[in-house]
Amino acid sequence: MALNYTKKTVDNFLKPKNIGRITNPDGYAQIGNMVCGDQLDFFLKVEKGKIKDVKFLSFGCASNIATASVMTEKVKGMTIEEAKKYPWKKIVDDLGGLPHQKVHCSIMAVDGLKKAIADYEKNIGSPKVVKKVKAIKPVITKKAKPIVKKKVVKKKVVKKLK
Ligand code: FES
Repeated sequence: MALNYTKKTVDNFLKPKNIGRITNPDGYAQIGNMVCGDQLDFFLKVEKGKIKDVKFLSFGCASNIATASVMTEKVKGMTIEEAKKYPWKKIVDDLGGLPHQKVHCSIMAVDGLKKAIADYEKNIGSPKVVKKVKAIKPVITKKAKPIVKKKVVKKKVVKKLK
């Protein structure tokens, strides 16, 4: 039985975008489906809260490759929060539809992306944690230096008076 793939699905299968790996990724995840046996690996590079680069490796079917290809094209440049909300239905729409037996491939792609984002947040810290750290740093450095200098000056003056 031949499945009815759209031209866009076939194109993304034959010439997938963003295939490969990223060395030292900020986030990484592997996801698989026990029923069909397909697998995807996602690699993320994140800069200033945005997905700077995303790549994937596939050990799966034509739609597994096509869905990951289309999704990675769309989420590149998105903020982490935007990418987290990227729906699998959008992938199906972008491909012009998928045979119903293959819709789960798009669900696996977004689940894999979310897993890689969760790994990034675990490694780097959630956006809230990063914001807190950035807010603390300048307070410590700016106030600490003048206080130290003033104390040193006062000690020298006291010594001279004795
Ligand atoms: S058949 Fe399972 S991911 Fe494609």
